[in-house]
Amino acid sequence: MEGTSTEKPKFQQALEPFCEKIRSVADGSDISVITHLDADGITAGSIMGVALKRLGARCSVRTVSDMNESVIERMKAEGRDFYIITDLGGGMAAKFQKALGKKWLIIDHHQIPDEEMITDDDNRILNAWKYGIDGSKDVCSGGMAYLVASALDKKNKDLSCIAVVSAVADRQDQGEKKSFTGPNLEILKAAQSAGLVQVEMDMMLTGRETRPVHEALAFTSFPFIEGLTWNREACYSLLKNAGIRMKNNGRWRVPAELSQEEKSTILDAVARFVATYTKSSAAATKIIDDMIGYVYTLACEDKRSQLRDAREFSTMLNACGRIRKAGVGVAICMGDRNAMLTEGEEIIQSYRSALRNYISTIFAEKWRIADEKGSIAFVNGEGLVPEDMLGAVSSLLSGSPTLQGRVLFVRTRASDSTYRFSSRKCTGCTSEVNLGVVMRECSASLGGTGGGHHSAAGCRIPLSALEDFMAALRLRVSDAKFAKAA
Ligand code: C5P
Repeated sequence: MEGTSTEKPKFQQALEPFCEKIRSVADGSDISVITHLDADGITAGSIMGVALKRLGARCSVRTVSDMNESVIERMKAEGRDFYIITDLGGGMAAKFQKALGKKWLIIDHHQIPDEEMITDDDNRILNAWKYGIDGSKDVCSGGMAYLVASALDKKNKDLSCIAVVSAVADRQDQGEKKSFTGPNLEILKAAQSAGLVQVEMDMMLTGRETRPVHEALAFTSFPFIEGLTWNREACYSLLKNAGIRMKNNGRWRVPAELSQEEKSTILDAVARFVATYTKSSAAATKIIDDMIGYVYTLACEDKRSQLRDAREFSTMLNACGRIRKAGVGVAICMGDRNAMLTEGEEIIQSYRSALRNYISTIFAEKWRIADEKGSIAFVNGEGLVPEDMLGAVSSLLSGSPTLQGRVLFVRTRASDSTYRFSSRKCTGCTSEVNLGVVMRECSASLGGTGGGHHSAAGCRIPLSALEDFMAALRLRVSDAKFAKAA
């Protein structure tokens, strides 16, 4: 891992004994991998699943929405030989120790309490932050799992492309023009040199090589452009009016066939559309910026497959997790390209149409958006957005030019009679506030639980705490001192 020289020795020093623990239990034993059901969790669990099988273990990969006492009880009751927990379990080391003795390891990138970092004498937790690596942008759990897998056996380098998918899934493409930084960049280089991933700077349209240009524009939901996203007819008219030739010998042209000049024409047309729609030239400039960046192509996937573009691959995994069919995503990551891929394609279609409904209803029902002083926006998804889709909705809204620059909080009512919140920094947001800290502290002070990262976090609070919670958020976000410190 070049580029992380100060933490490199510490991480590398920890990696070898950590791998040794895995090697010592793997051969012939029965190992359970428990992972988070989001896209990063799915990739991390799958990478470990493949690596363990290659070491001769019998292994299953199970996904859960969060780690709690009942999951730990179930793990204990299963009585497996060993447990590897990925993308989950921060702050729960003592509970694992009590229930499972020494039969567990954690691989993760979420921030964990300092106490847990310094008391892990037995080196059971491989967490990015412990080694000075910024787990919110430089590596995610898929990447951490890959670093373990490739240290276990060089032949696991073929899993580097799955780690690349995990980085875009967790929105860690936060370098210049959606590039990778830190360990993610090193993993990408490994994938490139193995010929598994190609990187190009281009318009980041969904279906670059597979969809007609107007469809690709319509299916691109980041940035989310009200009036264009998911509106094929509007995209077709926009492109046609801009003079783009849509067909070649009767066949729809795809974005990869466009010339540089045509791409500039499209970007100009989109910018004009956004400027008119939002009455903001700044929003139009930002949109162009958001639409161009590095695209990551999985050269090993079929040319017509949705898995060929790392961002589309990650969307499919996200969809599988959100509709509680994470097992389909795991099967795809572990190599199934038959029945499971077909199911994944069906899942993504219904996921897209559900999201389209939620987003268009939110924008149509104006009362759902409270845009306060232009710096903070609350979106009310009650009675509309199911709790499992909340994070996907807030991620999409955060890319909308309409909400540019805001700190966004989206809420819905959950099945356990709580409010769930999902927060994001919208595109162009300059606030330095750490949303993970804000969500954790504001929810805890009112009897809830929460956490997350600097720019993406979530929580649950009791129904009765809503007004106080929103007041606390307003205070925290507007308090510059806190914003800098957090
Ligand atoms: O649900 P959402 O996608 O908004 O979550 C964003 C981030 O916040 C995720 O990394 C998730 O693990 C974290 N989170 C958390 N505690 C919660 C909800 C979300 O740590 N109660």
